Amino acid sequence: MKILVLNGPNLNMLGIREPALYGTQNYENLCSMINKCADETNIEVEIFQSNHEGCLVDKIQQAYNAFDGIVINPAAYTHTSVALLDALKAVAIPAVEVHISDVSKREDFRQISYVRHYCEKTIAGKGFDGYIEAIKYLVEKYGESV
Ligand code: DQA
Repeated sequence: MKILVLNGPNLNMLGIREPALYGTQNYENLCSMINKCADETNIEVEIFQSNHEGCLVDKIQQAYNAFDGIVINPAAYTHTSVALLDALKAVAIPAVEVHISDVSKREDFRQISYVRHYCEKTIAGKGFDGYIEAIKYLVEKYGESV
């Protein structure tokens, strides 16, 4: 099984940006944790981060016929991007939305999620562990068929 993990804008600044919300571990720590989980679960994983909406759309399109699952933290694009929602719908790959912080307890403008209209599940407020939970969900549900 192959899972694509996508991260949106400013997630490369983990460890520096708002540590009270996002923790003190950096983006490299997040990638190591995901890669370790992939090794232990016997799946292939690719991790991609971009600050640009179009690059994330391109990556989702390229996942067509290449990946069996997508874990996506669109970051700020969660709350603005119909383009990311449409890209996910276009490729029709099972996807899970992840947020490090508990967006449900934050500002009003963070209460909208466009990708949620496509994703099977949303995991928020569990820190980096949310990514692991999302990967395990996809492996349990779809892992045996691929
Ligand atoms: C975030 C929450 C978003 O509202 C915010 O714009 C982010 C990160 C999270 O992981 O908690 O950049 O997606």
